[in-house]
Amino acid sequence: MRIDIVTLFPELCDGFLSASILGRARAKNLFEAHCHQIRDYTKNKQKQTDDYPYGGGCGMVLYAQPIADCLRAVQDQCAAQGRTKPHVVFLTAAGQQYNEETAKRLASYDSLALVCGHYEGIDQRVIDAFGDEEISIGDYVLTGGELASLVVADSVLRLQPGVLAEEKGYQDESYWDGLLEYPQFTRPEVWEGRAVPPVLLTGDHKKIDAWRGDQSRQRTRERRPDLYDRWCETHPLTEAPKWKRGENMRLVKTEEQMARAAELMAEGRRTVCSPVCTEEQLAAMTPEHWRPDLDAERKNGWAFYLHYNKVGETDAMVGVCHKTGMIGHLFVTESARGQGIGTKVLDFARKKLPEHEHPTLGVLSTNTRAISLYKRMGWRLNGVLTVHDPAQGAPFAVYCEELRMRFHG
Ligand code: ADE
Repeated sequence: MRIDIVTLFPELCDGFLSASILGRARAKNLFEAHCHQIRDYTKNKQKQTDDYPYGGGCGMVLYAQPIADCLRAVQDQCAAQGRTKPHVVFLTAAGQQYNEETAKRLASYDSLALVCGHYEGIDQRVIDAFGDEEISIGDYVLTGGELASLVVADSVLRLQPGVLAEEKGYQDESYWDGLLEYPQFTRPEVWEGRAVPPVLLTGDHKKIDAWRGDQSRQRTRERRPDLYDRWCETHPLTEAPKWKRGENMRLVKTEEQMARAAELMAEGRRTVCSPVCTEEQLAAMTPEHWRPDLDAERKNGWAFYLHYNKVGETDAMVGVCHKTGMIGHLFVTESARGQGIGTKVLDFARKKLPEHEHPTLGVLSTNTRAISLYKRMGWRLNGVLTVHDPAQGAPFAVYCEELRMRFHG
């Protein structure tokens, strides 16, 4: 690949492209880079590159002519090398926002020309005449396009074969698969009282990969919900994990099963409410407290199911309402988590409601783990069921909402 940077500060750009990883790759001819001085293409005696804007306003605007002539020279050089016509990108604060997807697309060109603006801008006519696209590296204004062009050059060149030591190097990175990168640690094992997560010392690569995947998803969910939503849409859980021998779901019929359902419900409520309720409120969430609610719901058309594991213990529950198409009380005990039981149980509950194409469920807005699992299983947010506002005397210590989610398949 050949990259040309058209700028008023070619030494600055060239210095960057000669240092560190890119510098070594450039020395090995893994890519070609040329930085061009716009001033060298001026036609006035003073070698002036800019002028006042027509219509008034502050700052100066770069002339079209020197940039156009410089780009023509780059086109000629590329043609002389038998390369394709360069793809021309203008770096401006008014461009399309840059991201890894764009980096990957730009990395596929044989020749790329990056034009840096300075001062207030560039005469629009040269952008219209030569530009294939305009890119901004973020929602802030720089004094010039040099840093932006180097951001683009760096992110594009590191994708060229051989620039990074291992191809896996960039596949693991943030954004590659639409998720942020998991946290990294190196020696010593304990630094200033902070230990490396024990799983990384086990040597069990299956476990380590699973932990890293969890960390990536959790970070993305918390820090970049926009990226996470997109990722959920492109990475749906199309199949629930398989039921293992000895595992099954049984309808709650007996008194003993009903008592167990009330226990699981109490444990479940305490778990999901712990971020939003006081200790006192949590302590009041006993099986005896919930039992009348379960009895009333059963009279109202709800059916409850318990999940039995391989040794016959009940470790999860769910309720379905045939009348309304609602699913509720989905809970997996702490020791049974991380095995896909929640996914299986929700899938089971949905299939128990074939008469409802779009069943609904309620989930606390603070329960982001559950919300993201449901999204990956084809559920979408569909309004607010209840607002819990402590100022209104609601029985929660923290403002939160119970969100309605709807199955879309
Ligand atoms: N020039 C000035 N601000 C810029 C930005 N945010 N991105 C690209 N080029 C710029």
